[in-house]
Amino acid sequence: MAKEINTIGVLTSGGDAPGMNAAIRAVVREAIVKGKKVKGIKRGYAGLLQEEIIDMEAKNVSDIIQRGGTILQTARCLEFTTAEGQEKGAAVCRKHGIDGIIVIGGDGSFRGAQKLAALGINTVGIPGTIDLDISCTEYTIGFDTAVNTAMEAIDKVRDTSTSHERCSIIEVMGRGAGYIALWCGIANGAEDILLPERYDYDEQKIVNHIIENRKRGKQHHIIINAEGIGHSSSMAKRIEAATGVETRATILGHMQRGGSPTCKDRVYASTMGALAVDLLCEGKSNRVVGYRHGDFTDYDIDEALSMDKNISEYQVEISRNLSR
Ligand code: ADP
Ligand code: F6P
Repeated sequence: MAKEINTIGVLTSGGDAPGMNAAIRAVVREAIVKGKKVKGIKRGYAGLLQEEIIDMEAKNVSDIIQRGGTILQTARCLEFTTAEGQEKGAAVCRKHGIDGIIVIGGDGSFRGAQKLAALGINTVGIPGTIDLDISCTEYTIGFDTAVNTAMEAIDKVRDTSTSHERCSIIEVMGRGAGYIALWCGIANGAEDILLPERYDYDEQKIVNHIIENRKRGKQHHIIINAEGIGHSSSMAKRIEAATGVETRATILGHMQRGGSPTCKDRVYASTMGALAVDLLCEGKSNRVVGYRHGDFTDYDIDEALSMDKNISEYQVEISRNLSR
């Protein structure tokens, strides 16, 4: 028989992402409507182990849907990766009457949720990361805001790059994944896009491309470089020396993780937050919420973590044609 949940805990874990607040708000309000108590766990699994646990009422999540970051704050917690840490976490849940937990984060955070589920605490994960690198879902909270933030910043760099007839290498986040780089590369009309999924790029080809484009009268050359490749500053020096074209590197950094979430991030995060609560209310556990083929859905965490996902080869192919 499905376990009845009375008190739902919610935490954010790993890197923050714009839209996490919208998800927290949805969890709290949907749970209250369904007659459940809600407890906010601060600083991810670290706060769980430290018992940083607060009661959440509907009013505690007022005025946050439009705010970046996470009101619960977030952390990375080494102790929780150990069996002792996980048992302590489950014991803290039991002590505070938390029988269901919603974990908003990435794959690492879901591994933690999987361990809690095995220890008898019902869990549901919500994909929250700007990197879009969670296989079971086509959407992750924060990606839309992050790519829009990066796109606007790259437009600005492009203005000055054109005025000075320079080459600009702009490094975007994404850890080992190239989704932010690929989307910005297409949205900003970049001449070259360097993706970790295609790490064997040839710098001489980039040099030739810059020289060809100069001959054709192009006034700038924008290279979007994914964080997973990195080394933008040294790359800029080498490219300038090889082409004679002044080259600058800009690393966008953590600005990509902040700011008010876009409409899409607010709506999708709200929907996923409510869905996670509904799954717990149905007695489900060890699930992760996703968005696939035009609909919100859920998967077993074990299955979700074993899925593969890759960048679109077609988009990679056409991106070059479109920036001629
Ligand atoms: P993300 O959730 O964005 O992938 P991390 O990989 O940093 O971010 O994971 C966030 C936190 O989740 C870690 O600091 C740790 O507390 C927990 N975690 C990660 N991997 C595991 C694991 N294998 N088992 C238990 N907890 C884990
Ligand atoms: O996972 C989100 C992310 O911003 C990655 O794109 C990046 O590699 C990492 O987190 C940066 O982490 P930190 O905030 O610890 O520097």
